[in-house]
Amino acid sequence: MFRNSAAKCVHLVGALWGRKAGASLTRCLHQTQVAETNVKDLAPPPTSPPGLANLQEWKVTQGPQSAAPVADGRPRPAGVEISVQCHPSQLIMTKRLQAQRLNGIDHNPWVEFVKLASEHDVVNLGQGFPDFAPPDFAMEAFQRAVSGDFMLNQYTKAFGYPPLTEILASFFAKLLGEEMDPDKNVLVTVGAYGALFTAFQALVDDGDEVIIIEPAFDCYEPMTLMAGGRPVFVSLKPSPIQDGELDSSSNWKLDPTELASKFTSRTKALVLNTPNNPLGKVFSREELELVASLCQQHDVVCITDEVYQWLVYDGHQHVSIASLPGMWERTLTIGSAGKTFSVTGWKVGWVLGPDNILKHLRTVHQNSVFHCPTQGQAAVAWSFEREQLYFGQPSSYFVQFPQAMQRSRDHMIHSLQSVGLKPVIPHGSYFLITDISDFKRTMPDLPGTADEPYDSRFVKWMIKNKGLVAIPVSIFYSKPHRKHFDHYIRFCFVKDESTLHAMDEKLQKWKAELK
Ligand SMILES: Cc1ncc(COP(=O)(O)O)c(C=O)c1O
Repeated sequence: MFRNSAAKCVHLVGALWGRKAGASLTRCLHQTQVAETNVKDLAPPPTSPPGLANLQEWKVTQGPQSAAPVADGRPRPAGVEISVQCHPSQLIMTKRLQAQRLNGIDHNPWVEFVKLASEHDVVNLGQGFPDFAPPDFAMEAFQRAVSGDFMLNQYTKAFGYPPLTEILASFFAKLLGEEMDPDKNVLVTVGAYGALFTAFQALVDDGDEVIIIEPAFDCYEPMTLMAGGRPVFVSLKPSPIQDGELDSSSNWKLDPTELASKFTSRTKALVLNTPNNPLGKVFSREELELVASLCQQHDVVCITDEVYQWLVYDGHQHVSIASLPGMWERTLTIGSAGKTFSVTGWKVGWVLGPDNILKHLRTVHQNSVFHCPTQGQAAVAWSFEREQLYFGQPSSYFVQFPQAMQRSRDHMIHSLQSVGLKPVIPHGSYFLITDISDFKRTMPDLPGTADEPYDSRFVKWMIKNKGLVAIPVSIFYSKPHRKHFDHYIRFCFVKDESTLHAMDEKLQKWKAELK
């Protein structure tokens, strides 16, 4: 126990240089992070072992109050010296270092899979970004933004570069059926991520409940928690399908009774994502009407993440929930230039909504980011101006891009089937999920930690042995629900033809090994 406590206290020790440490040692036991430590019971400090040469050693003389702790079950006499090693460059405080709101959200699965992918010869179909060139008009707009008017190198208006807020207001006014004031109904953010974060910080208070529809983009839960809220999950569930048929994302539905049961007097917001990442489901008007009526009945704000709104397939229609009767007043609609114009690195996003809600997001924005980079905003503004001219016509990017991506989706669906994977046909987004139950049955014992979901072990196996990167779908579920959805993995098909051909080669090799 004492060894543990001493290990825990290592974060403190550097800060105690030159101080009397006895009393502080007790305080330091409250630290929760464990770092490299070396406690040597009564011995004087030895020289540092190899590999630890840059660690500092420090002797702590225990005060009488710490006589009780034991290293090995035996009581320790007061006044003994304990030598603790710590890294001199590590900030060590007598106070708790990490803010409470970060508890339990430090693990990020993306970091793990990106690292693993970098260590193998792989075709990366994991992360959601295009590996092909953005449209010429967007590239030209960016070049113009960086080489034209030198004032674009300076700050712009805090809540958005005026030509961008203006075009967003006029473009989306038509789609949402709502007149918009560029200054009051539009806020430009650092990507859709920034919009989401700002919305949670502005609206969610300690103890507020936020309903999240699973599978869900994985930042909604930690953003709710960081704001002090309580995530409440409800899952889309697949209906049974006929043998030999492929499942489809529209077959995954909310149970209306279950959804209604999640609303309480503490529910502050519901997060909707259509088209959905990772499933590719495009919510139908009827489904949105159900969500809308519950939000209205229980006086709840709807935060709707519509970053994939232009990517819909097979004649499906994206409907913005804010366009339904009575919903504009209680909806924040979030978009991303990254997903809209295939420029994820620009990190320009926005949130649209009524002034009485947006004013609270502006408060968060002006006290955090304040300005977003001007040149990226100018390039997005000009790209939208171009799209407004061609809207609905065959030369519109919003028409051409989904057509091209539907072809990529179909390419991937056919290829994955060749090795026994069973894609769930997506009707929107960058992604498809594929059922790996047959592998779970035939190869149940893939390496991994005891509590690691099967899909995570499968992806690691696939990266190492088949050279293909995907993302386990269980990460898009809350912990209690993960075990029910650990037999799906997500692929991104918004990739260059050459990447899809490289995928084919890997799959053909895999197929040959199956014989
Ligand atoms: C559903 C969803 N929302 C938001 C984002 C973040 O978008 P941005 O890159 O504009 O921050 C992503 C990115 O993958 C996403 O999939």
